Amino acid sequence: MIGTVHGGLDIGELRSLGLNPDEVLDFSSNINPLGISAKVKQAVGEADLSSYPDRHCLTLREAIADRAGVGIENLLMGNGSTELIHLLARACLKPGDRCLIFTPTFGEYEAAAVMAGGELYTLEASERDGFQWSIDPASNTIRELRPRLVFLCNPNNPTGVYLERDAVEQIVDAVGAHGLLVLDDAYAGLSGHQWDSTPLLGHGNVVILHSMTKDHALAGVRLGYLMASPDVITKVGGLQPAWSVNTVAQTAGLAALQDEAHVTAGRHAVQESKAYLHAELNDLGIPANASAANFILAKVGDAPGLRSALLRRGIAVRDCTSFGLPQFVRIAVRRRDECVRLVSALKEALAK
Ligand SMILES: Cc1ncc(COP(=O)(O)O)c(C=O)c1O
Repeated sequence: MIGTVHGGLDIGELRSLGLNPDEVLDFSSNINPLGISAKVKQAVGEADLSSYPDRHCLTLREAIADRAGVGIENLLMGNGSTELIHLLARACLKPGDRCLIFTPTFGEYEAAAVMAGGELYTLEASERDGFQWSIDPASNTIRELRPRLVFLCNPNNPTGVYLERDAVEQIVDAVGAHGLLVLDDAYAGLSGHQWDSTPLLGHGNVVILHSMTKDHALAGVRLGYLMASPDVITKVGGLQPAWSVNTVAQTAGLAALQDEAHVTAGRHAVQESKAYLHAELNDLGIPANASAANFILAKVGDAPGLRSALLRRGIAVRDCTSFGLPQFVRIAVRRRDECVRLVSALKEALAK
């Protein structure tokens, strides 16, 4: 197996365990617990699959621009935000350029920076501090290192830590004119308490990533977008292969934007189930990090062992060993009835 470790079901692994993928509840990828909206399904069913997609995703960019209050020249669509992370690193980092990452976090930032030849630095949050970064020392480090790219995920995967606007603005100031802050808002849409990061684009040194695969449960379709100044969009877009964002993705994205109520309902479902899961984990004596996102980081001791025990019971959770956290699992917040099944499997697995 090569590449970055991710959540989601591995069909080969399930086969080797004699498990039918349809019977496994996936708590290892963090998507809208209500799944795909009926309006998206209908639109995709009617899409014209025989023609090439619009290479510039014009209609979709217009719809996003309209909602976000930015120009279409500030938007680039991607085959999932993962594609955009890699293109950004290639566009902005020359071999030896410094790239700083707020960690522990999503593995693709490091993978992208390394592939682009960047020199990697991390600002590691510790368990002792509830995985909160100290912003003053972090800003000082950024001023000293003068990295070309800084990656910050907010709310952060896998810790659920969410920085307020003033903390992010302090980081933007520290990055200054010599670098770019890449703010990954992948989970902001499903977080209970959110602030709008879009005005940060006015600083000129901020790039914002959105993943439509989370809020709208389009993980299989692959769709994300980047908001930035027109010169960054041109540089990054210049590296993108033609037709990267296919017709199904563009159609699904347009229909999803017209069903914002589905995301709101998903957010409410997350809030209810998250409270339930926190209470149950607490009763089981499992420490869980306070999370602003639609997943919970739980300290279970032997994460690989517990993951295997749960998988045998038809429940997939994310072992956080690849984040450098081998005692933790990340649990996506799903519908309440599904969380009840998780808790029951957890009780069984822990009783063994
Ligand atoms: C923080 C973060 N950013 C980006 C992504 C990638 O999302 P996409 O499915 O849009 O490529 C993920 C996926 O897990 C993620 O956790």
